Amino acid sequence: MPSGGGLRSTQWFGATGRSGMAYRGWMRSQGFTPEVFDGRPVIGIATTWSELAPCNVHLHRVAESVKRGVWQAGGFPLEFPAMALGETLLRPTAMLYRNLLAMEAEELMRANPLDGVVLLSGCDKTTPGLLMAAASVDLPAVMVTGGPMLNGKYQGTDVGSGTAVWRFEEDLVAGRMTQEECVFAEGCMARSNGHCMTMGTASTMASMAEALGMQLPYSATWPAVDARRYETAQRAGQVVVGLVRDDLRPSAIMTRAAFENAIRVNAAIGGSTNAVIHLLAIAGRLGVPLALDDFDVLARDVPTLVNLQPSGQYLMEDFCYAGGLPAVMRELAENGLLHADAITVTGSAVGANVADAPCWNREVVKSVAEPFQPAGTGTAVLRGNLAPGGAVIKQSASSPHLLKHRGRALVFDSPADYYAVSNDPDLDVDEDTVLVIRYCGPRGYPGMPEVSNVALPRKLLLRGVRDMVRICDGRMSGTAYGTVVLHVAPEAATGGPLALVRTGDWITLDVPARTLTLEVGDEELTARRARWEPRAPHASRGWTHLYTEHVLQADTGADLDFLVGASGHPVPKDSH
Ligand code: FES
Repeated sequence: MPSGGGLRSTQWFGATGRSGMAYRGWMRSQGFTPEVFDGRPVIGIATTWSELAPCNVHLHRVAESVKRGVWQAGGFPLEFPAMALGETLLRPTAMLYRNLLAMEAEELMRANPLDGVVLLSGCDKTTPGLLMAAASVDLPAVMVTGGPMLNGKYQGTDVGSGTAVWRFEEDLVAGRMTQEECVFAEGCMARSNGHCMTMGTASTMASMAEALGMQLPYSATWPAVDARRYETAQRAGQVVVGLVRDDLRPSAIMTRAAFENAIRVNAAIGGSTNAVIHLLAIAGRLGVPLALDDFDVLARDVPTLVNLQPSGQYLMEDFCYAGGLPAVMRELAENGLLHADAITVTGSAVGANVADAPCWNREVVKSVAEPFQPAGTGTAVLRGNLAPGGAVIKQSASSPHLLKHRGRALVFDSPADYYAVSNDPDLDVDEDTVLVIRYCGPRGYPGMPEVSNVALPRKLLLRGVRDMVRICDGRMSGTAYGTVVLHVAPEAATGGPLALVRTGDWITLDVPARTLTLEVGDEELTARRARWEPRAPHASRGWTHLYTEHVLQADTGADLDFLVGASGHPVPKDSH
């Protein structure tokens, strides 16, 4: 039971007189019997279900399983909607709305008579958005992610959602596929409920939630249509009631040790670079000191163990059958790469949770002794005069021969500007060129979209070139691949050095040395800066205005400045 005695919800449902009648009476219009107001824990189920967010469309069924578990454990479940963010449809990018989801969910959790919450997420931004909210309210919380789709199947081979799209597009441009074949292939790729089944951002963030201790073991990997996903959801309903009774809150679970575990797990699974931004934002809500460089330092000792697309071969369904995330975490724990004593929503430490986790397929989940990729091939943090605030690159998705590279810049002020000429046979570009795509950061696009891995110029694709260095202040889908320097901070729209690059400048990328250098002298850069003019604001009203006025840079998580930190859950004033 919470310290101080009594459940939060009794302030509403235990009230007498006019207020109590109002709180209970209108709830009884749903047909609840009076004993649901007898002081049992009230559990909110925050669902990001929507037909506009196809990865989350089954969450209303997952919620039913959660409710069963809550009733079983003696709680009172109440489902409520939180903003659904579908990666595939939202323009200009779902990331523009992650902080809005976090703000909405935080306020709903605080303003309602809830003692604990179950967070139902799936598509990329819904997991970090809900975790940010739960961190700021700090009510006992369990996450249940919706699970990955079944493996895509096309012409007898497995195809990964997202990852295959990039390849199909290249094949279409290069004439290896027809438009009709592409339309057929898209139906083969997304063939069940669930989120992307590559190790993209959704799978990564589901794994992060499990690694942080915020969802039950195996939750990240059960396919969306697997009965065990629903079993786990029911179990989560039982567990959250126990968390309320024990007063175990997100702030006690998502500690610095838990974030270090998550960063190492992200390296071991070959996870998305988006985890960097989201984990920084969640940590910022909790006051946990976490810095961009932690992602490089902590990941350097960790080999990639999971052989999944886009860095590897297999897909999430295979990962599930091979033993799921606990098999990876056990391997890390046994090699001293995990804080085994970090507490989780099970009430047990993470080491105990994974101590006996089996691995059924060493092709998919490799060992530390014989890893898929050696230590030091994960996400690297770069610095230099082009990115004084830092930038990241996913080494496992890059071409090894490009990790040390010097080339002349070809600069575009938007992806649209680039695509307007990318098919031009006379475009002055070769495989050594460094493509610079800018004004794609949090303030610039706005919302920092996943546009950084622009498709290669057609003339290079036709010559068989499959990769080249690209530099951008935007993000890259976790399902994508390529030698792409991302999250350059400060972004061009705030006058960062990226805004000062000119076509023809020399740029040196040296990932082993962790540097990104624009070979232009300070004097010349100062002169260019004096001539630089900021762009007009994107909007004069509404969310976009609020967002662009207050969004922070990528190196601290791109939260809004006034949302960093926590307000807790007290609301002393009554509404009646
Ligand atoms: Fe939703 Fe990939 S589009 S997870």
